[in-house]
Amino acid sequence: MKLYETLEQQLKKEPNFVTDNGELKKWVVLNRAQNFDEELIELLLDNADLKEKFFVNVKGTLVFNQNLFVQFLEQKNYLNDSYTKYKNKVGLTIDGKYLKQRNEVALVWPFKDCILEGGQSREEEKREEIFFNEILAQDEITQLLEPKVLTNAKSIDKDGEKPLDQFNRNENGTITDNLIIKGNNLLALHTLKKEFAGKVKLIYIDPPYNTGNDSFGYNDSFNRSTWLTFMRNRLNVARDLLHKSGCLFIHIDYIEFAYLKVLCDEVFGIENFVQIISVKTATPAGFKVVNPGPVNVTEFVLMYTKSKKEYNFKKGFVEAPYQKDYKYYIVNPDEKPSNWIISDVKTKALELLNVENEKELKDQYGNEIAAIILEKKIEQFVMENPSIVFATYGPHKPAGILRELIQESKSRPDDIVFHEREGNSPFILKGGRLMAFYDKKLQEIDGKLVSTQLLTDFWSDLSWDTLSFEGGVEFKNGKKPEKFLKRIIEVYSDNGDLILDYHLGSGSTCAVAHKLGRQYIGIEQLDYGDNDSVVRLKNVVNGDQGGISKSVNWQGGGSFIYLELKKYNQTFIEQIEEAKDNEALLQIWEQMKAKSFFKYSIDLKAFQNSIEEFKQFDIKKQKEILCELLDKNQLYVNLSSLEDEDFACTDEEKKVTKDFYQIKK
Ligand SMILES: C[S@@+](CC[C@H](N)C(=O)[O-])C[C@H]1O[C@@H](n2cnc3c(N)ncnc32)[C@H](O)[C@@H]1O
Repeated sequence: MKLYETLEQQLKKEPNFVTDNGELKKWVVLNRAQNFDEELIELLLDNADLKEKFFVNVKGTLVFNQNLFVQFLEQKNYLNDSYTKYKNKVGLTIDGKYLKQRNEVALVWPFKDCILEGGQSREEEKREEIFFNEILAQDEITQLLEPKVLTNAKSIDKDGEKPLDQFNRNENGTITDNLIIKGNNLLALHTLKKEFAGKVKLIYIDPPYNTGNDSFGYNDSFNRSTWLTFMRNRLNVARDLLHKSGCLFIHIDYIEFAYLKVLCDEVFGIENFVQIISVKTATPAGFKVVNPGPVNVTEFVLMYTKSKKEYNFKKGFVEAPYQKDYKYYIVNPDEKPSNWIISDVKTKALELLNVENEKELKDQYGNEIAAIILEKKIEQFVMENPSIVFATYGPHKPAGILRELIQESKSRPDDIVFHEREGNSPFILKGGRLMAFYDKKLQEIDGKLVSTQLLTDFWSDLSWDTLSFEGGVEFKNGKKPEKFLKRIIEVYSDNGDLILDYHLGSGSTCAVAHKLGRQYIGIEQLDYGDNDSVVRLKNVVNGDQGGISKSVNWQGGGSFIYLELKKYNQTFIEQIEEAKDNEALLQIWEQMKAKSFFKYSIDLKAFQNSIEEFKQFDIKKQKEILCELLDKNQLYVNLSSLEDEDFACTDEEKKVTKDFYQIKK
C-alpha cells in the first residue's frame, strides 16, 4: 500500500480527524502536528511504516519529524472536488506559492533531490515535466524506477529480423548480445541495472546541450536546474552501471559546460575527473561569423573514470605531420655502435635525387618547387628507414645511470655510448645527448603506418563536414562522426568491452562499437523512422561502407537485439498528443476511464460531473488536463506487474522479460 493511503487509513481511525462524509480533516491534523499532539503521535507510532517514515531514532528515543510530516501532508491534495484543483504538485513554496509561479528564482537548484522523468515521444513535443521529490514521493520514485516489462523483442542479423528466441549469455550468466532499447533512458537505465550493474566499460553520451533549440524543450525559469536534474538522475544510475575500471565521456558545448563539470565532480568525485577534451567541430564560416565575440567552433568532452585508482590508463596516438627535427641517420647500422657513421638525411635525400647540392635542385626547379621536392624525398627516406633515423635530446633532470652515461658521452663527444637495459630499449648517446629513433614515432593508424604524436586534450584534426548521411541515415540533431567515436572507443576500451550510449540519436556510438568488435547497449526514446539507429545498425550488419568502415576493413556481420519498454499510460499520452480535435479527446477519455491508471488523488466522479466545463476549454488545455489525470508511475509496465491481468502482457512479452531478468518460473 502506498504511504499516503497508509497514512490516510491510520489517521481516519481517530474520529476527530474525519468529517461527517468520511473525508480527512487535514487542517485539524496539521494543527495537531504543529502542537506535537500526543494522540496524533501515538496514532502514527502505532503503524510500523509511519513510525519508520516520520520518526528519527536518537540514542534510543524516537523524535517526531514534525517538519517532514507537515510537508508531506501539505503536498497532498486529498480528494478535491474540481478537476481544476486535481493537480497534485510537488515543489518548493514560499508563502504557499510555488517558486515557479513566483518567478523569482533563476540560478538556484531547488529540485536538487528530485527525479525528473524527462521524456518525449515526439521531437517537437515540449512537455511540462513532473518532479518527484525524494523525501515526499518515495513511493512514486520506487515505482517509476522499478525494472520494466520488455516488449517487441527482435533479433536482427544479416538474414533480417526474427522474434527473439533467447538472450545469449557468457560463463558468468551475463547477456552478451548487443542491445538497442527504445524508451525513456532513465527508466531503461534502471531496467538494465540488475543485469549490467558494474559491467559497462565505457559510456559515451551526447545529451541535448540545452541550447533552447535542441530536444531539451524545457523553456521555463528553471531551465538550467531542470536540465541539471535531468542529467544528474541519469548520471547516478550510469555510474552504477560502470565497471570499477570503467570511464565515461560526456559531449557538451559552452552553454552548460561549466555547470555540468560541477555536477559531474559531485556525482563521480573530483578525484575521478580525468580531462576536458576540446574538439574543433566547425570552421569560422557561414552564419557563425555573425556571432558576437570570437567565433565559436569548439565543443567539449568531459572524461571521468569510475575510480582513477582502478582505471588502466593507455596512451593514445594520432597521426602527425613528419617531424623535421629528426635530421640524422646511421649510415652503417649493421656495424657495432662504436663503429657507426652518422650523416644527415638532407644529404641523403639530395643523393637520392641525383644532385650534388641544394643549389643544383633550385636551378632546375626554382626555389619553391625545389624545397617541396627535397622535403618529400627526406620524408620518404625517413618513413622507409625509421629505425636508423634519429634526433637527439637532453633529458630533463637525468638521474642515476643516465646521469653517469651523459657525463661519459660528454667526455668523448665523437663516440656513441651504448648501454643495454633489461626489458627496455637501450640508452644510446652522442655528444652527451640521448638518441631517439623515428620508429618510435610510427604507429599503425587506420591500417597505415604513419608518423604519430601522443593524443592530447585538443582534437582539431577530425572533420565534422561530411557526416550528415554517414551510416546511411540522415540526422540533423547533433550527429557525431564515426572517426571521432572510433578514437574514444579504440583508445579507452578493449575488444569485447561493453559500451553504453543512452542518448543514442542516429546510433553513431553503437555503429562504431559494432565495427570495432565491442559489445554495446544503445538507448533512444524517439523513433526516427527511416533515419533511426535500428536502420543504421542494420546497414552496419549488412556491411555499410561509410564512416570508419574502410579504415577497419569492415565487411559486415554480427547481430543485435531490439527491445522496447512496454508502455501503459504512455500509450494514452501519445494518443492525447496525436488527437486532432475535441471529439477525439473525448473518445480517448472514454478509453482512459476503461483502461488507464489515474493518479490516486483524482476524484473521477467529480471530473466526470464537470465534463461540460471541460468541453469549454481549447484543445491545448484539454490535452494538458487529460495528461495530468494519468498516473505517471504507470507510464510503462513494471516487472512486478508482469502477471497482472490489468496490464495484459502477452506470452511473448512474459517469455522475453523473464529470460532477461532470469526469472525461472
Ligand atoms: C544530440 S542527440 C545524440 C546524437 C548522437 N550522438 C548521434 O551521433 O547521432 C541526443 C539524443 O538524446 C535523445 N534523448 C533525449 N532525452 C532522452 C530521454 N529522456 N530518453 C532517451 N533518449 C533521450 C534525443 O531524442 C536525441 O536523439
